[in-house]
Amino acid sequence: MHARNIRHGVIGAAGAVLLALGVAGPPTQAMPREQASASAPEGDIEQGKELFMTIGCYACHGIEGQGGFGGPKLGPDPMAFPAFVRYVRAPGGTMPPYTEKLLPDEQDLADIHAYLRARSGPAPLSVLPPP
Ligand code: HEC
Repeated sequence: MHARNIRHGVIGAAGAVLLALGVAGPPTQAMPREQASASAPEGDIEQGKELFMTIGCYACHGIEGQGGFGGPKLGPDPMAFPAFVRYVRAPGGTMPPYTEKLLPDEQDLADIHAYLRARSGPAPLSVLPPP
């Protein structure tokens, strides 16, 4: 009944975020996360990137979905696909809704989800120059 020890060396900021969110396991760099993709349909990463730019997600969430322009960080570990679709269709806060009318094809959201999953996480602290 002990908390599981995670022994995968340095757990970077991404790991800390994942742990804070209660997601088990080490972060995988630049790889689609199995957990997120399990419930998600196949998506085209390039197409997703294109959409992320053209329909404007990047303006608030950053080109890499890294957050910081009014919108929170979205990748590399976006919420599960069904929740993602629900959210984008009807966000709770100040984000504009992307309704079926605006974005009819759910495959577009699958592509965006794939793009976000494929983002690399933040660089490990070890690459930062010493203070
Ligand atoms: C005008 C700015 C803006 C645009 C454009 C925008 N968002 Fe957001 N988004 C936000 C803000 C702000 C939030 C934080 C919650 C809120 O206020 O709705 C958010 C939250 C989210 C969340 C929930 C994140 C979480 O962890 O709770 C998702 C997913 C998301 N956005 C996806 C998208 C996608 C995909 C697009 C493009 C189709 C998009 N957003 C376009 C501003 C934006």
